[in-house]
Order: sequence, then structure tokens, then C-alpha cells
Amino acid sequence: MHISVIGSGYVGTTVTACFADLGHEVTAIDIDEDVVDALNEGRAPIDEPGLEELLATHAGDRLEATTSYDAVSESDVTFLAIGTPSNEDGSIDLTALEAAAEAAGEALADKADRHLVVIKSTVTPTSIGEVLEPAVNRGSNDNPNVEVGMNPEFLREGSAVDDFLTPDKVVFGTNSEWATDQLHAVFDPLLDEHDADVVETDPATASMIKYANNAFLASKISLVNDIGNVCKEFGLDAYEVMAAVGLDDRISEQFLRSGVGWGGSCFPKDVDAIVAAARDEDYDPALLEAAVEINDRQPERLLELLEDHVDPADARIAVLGLAFKPQTDDIRNSRAIPTIETLRNRGAEVVAYDPVAAENMRERFPEIEYADSAASALEGADGAVVVTDWDEFAALDEEFDAMADPVVVDGRRIVERRDGLAYEGLTW
Ligand code: UDX
Repeated sequence: MHISVIGSGYVGTTVTACFADLGHEVTAIDIDEDVVDALNEGRAPIDEPGLEELLATHAGDRLEATTSYDAVSESDVTFLAIGTPSNEDGSIDLTALEAAAEAAGEALADKADRHLVVIKSTVTPTSIGEVLEPAVNRGSNDNPNVEVGMNPEFLREGSAVDDFLTPDKVVFGTNSEWATDQLHAVFDPLLDEHDADVVETDPATASMIKYANNAFLASKISLVNDIGNVCKEFGLDAYEVMAAVGLDDRISEQFLRSGVGWGGSCFPKDVDAIVAAARDEDYDPALLEAAVEINDRQPERLLELLEDHVDPADARIAVLGLAFKPQTDDIRNSRAIPTIETLRNRGAEVVAYDPVAAENMRERFPEIEYADSAASALEGADGAVVVTDWDEFAALDEEFDAMADPVVVDGRRIVERRDGLAYEGLTW
């Protein structure tokens, strides 16, 4: 099958490489010439395990990249993987996706064979019917051969290739049996190798499944954080409690790690978007709003525990970990941002360390100090907070002896308790 993928960002590049690996002929289309050149040379424009290997294997063979939309009509199916950033009120901004949908439609105006345009981007339930399908139709002059479908993506940063190739489920949101068959033709090489559930539904439901999935996981962590804060009040270990709770099959042991909260490019944006979309329909999603509120509060709790030991005013505080999670340099909505902001507001001198994300954080906070190792961040510090669970923090030991005052508040349960160290776990 010949697939065109419009948008070579995080999701677009991953699905491009993986579709090629499944044996399809894939053309990636992006406006950024540097990204196009990188893909054609088999280089990954983003850092993701296994991605460059796939690109290097298939570039120039089954995989090519271009800035031209001509490839759209030459392909059988087109995937749109364009970002949907947040507006001020949390709702999604469809401008770029709508423009790409219209451009894809234009490229298909004269197509005599049936063609499926699949929305990969995360969009609210009304987006396809009210905005994106009309945009495609506008572009194609209502060519009846062009249909629009939805195929949400559930991959995580840091394991994107693996998540794509070994999904729990794939969701096909279509308006016709033909469109469902097209998506089967795309995914059957994967489903032949890997046993996953296939959900066949309409595009609006497919869009909602993605939001419900992320809203559930984000809320699960917020619930665990809420329970974790209660555990801490009673002097109990939330990890011991949740390890037992997770033995219940109805709950599962995953996503029960309490701490400083969730960040990244998906959970915060998607929960905000579905809350905004619900409010737009005059429904107040109280539980989802509370999930956001609890998440916003966790960095504050971290600092309250620090303040039990050290007054941040004029103190030197080490912030260990800046990425929103380990194995990435992505700082989007990292809990380190409100942590640093609040520390600065309270007059602390902040020294930050992250093995890969420091340069990104420097753009956000150019005024703070960045250390080149955890050891040098800790040296002479009056206190430390841990925001990201990088493995290397588990190995820290005598580095704490070099602190002016060895106080650590751990937001991720990664540092080992030891004698001579005032250690506080956020929820344990
Ligand atoms: C998430 C979803 O998992 C994925 O399905 C979706 O497609 C995109 O959003 P991602 O943001 O890459 O993926 O990371 P994930 O590993 O899910 O972690 C998200 C955040 O939750 C991180 O900040 C992480 O530290 C936090 N988290 C996760 C917890 O605080 N506790 C947990 O138990 C799990």
C-alpha cells in the first residue's frame, strides 16, 4: 500500500518509519526542509529509541520525504499528523490541521479513485464533522471519492516505536465499511504479527476514545497522588498501599506511581482540551477539573515539605531532573517548571541539573544556574528536590555529604534513604 503522512513531528515521524517497516511505501510530507532532508538521509529529527534505525533502513527505499503535496493523490491513504496546540482557555487550536486538511483535499480534487484521509492528530469529538471534513471537502471541491476517518495514536515518548508496533488496541473511526477495510489494509501487517484488539467505530467516538484514555490515565495518577498525600499525612507509604491496591485486576498495577505529578505534551493538553470542549457544551467535568487541580498542587506540596527543613529565601536549592519524565529532553509541562518558578518567587537561588534537558530549560529559565552533574548541583546546596526519576539519581550517595545542609525532598521515589540525610518522600 502507498501511504502519505502529512506532518513529520513526533507522531508523524514515528508512524512514517513504522508504516515503512510494516512493508508499505510511505511518503512523508512536511513544510520544514531540514526535517525532509533528515528523513531522506535516514536521520531521525527527534530522539526516540529505534527510530533512526528504522529510518536508516527504509529511507531511499520504501520511505521518502518531500515538501510537495503531489504525493497525496499518488498514495492510497493519507494520514494527517499535525499538532493541535492549546489556546489560552485550554481548547485546541485547529488552524494548522485545518489548513493541512484543506491542502490534502486540494491535492485530491481530481482523484478518480477512492481515497481515505485519516486524522491521526488528537481532536475533540466535533472537530472532524464540523471543521476537518468540511476543510477536506472544500479543498477537493466535494470530490465524492474522498472520505475522512480517524485513527488515534496512543504512543508514549521514549518508547514510541515499540508502542506503535506492539499496541494493546488500534482504533478505526470511519463512516464506511470501505474506509474500515482501508485501515485494515494499513494495519493488517502489524496485526498479523502482534495480537491487538481492533475497535471499529465512527470518527467522533474514535476522537473521544483518545481523550478518554488520556483523561483516565491522568486522573488515575491524580487520584493516586491525592491518596498519596493522605498517606503522607498519616505517616504511611503510598507505594506500599498502592502495590496492594494494584493487585486488584480491575485497577491494575500500572500508573500507580505517586509523586510530583504528570507533565508532557499529551496529558496536560488533552485534559485541558476535553474540559474546555465539555464546558463549551455547558457541562462542568468536575472530576477532570479536580485531576488538573491536584496535579497543579503537587509541586507546591513538594516545596512545603522542603520548607519544613529549610527556608528557601536566600537558600541555594538544587533541582534534580528537568525533563517531564526520564529518557527524554522534553520539558513541556514538566513539573520542574512550577517547582523552579515557586522557588524563585520565594527568593531561592536555584541550581538545576538534568542529564539531557538542561538546554531546553535554559530557554525557559535563563537566569538560574545549570550544573553539569548531580554532584556539582548538590555541592554546597542547602536543600534539594527531585523532580524526574532519572536512574542515575538512585546511585547518589556520598554526593549528599557535600551539601551545606543534606536535605532531600524526593518527588519520584528514586533517591535512597540513608543515614546523615534528611530525606522526605512526597507521598511516603
Ligand atoms: C502519554 C500516554 O501514556 C500516551 O498513551 C499518549 O499517547 C501520550 O501521553 P507520555 O506523555 O509520553 O504518554 O508519557 P507517560 O509515560 O504516559 O507519562 C506521562 C506523565 O505521567 C509523566 O510526567 C510521568 O512522570 C507521569 N506519571 C506516569 C506518573 O506521575 N505516575 C505514573 O504512575 C505514571
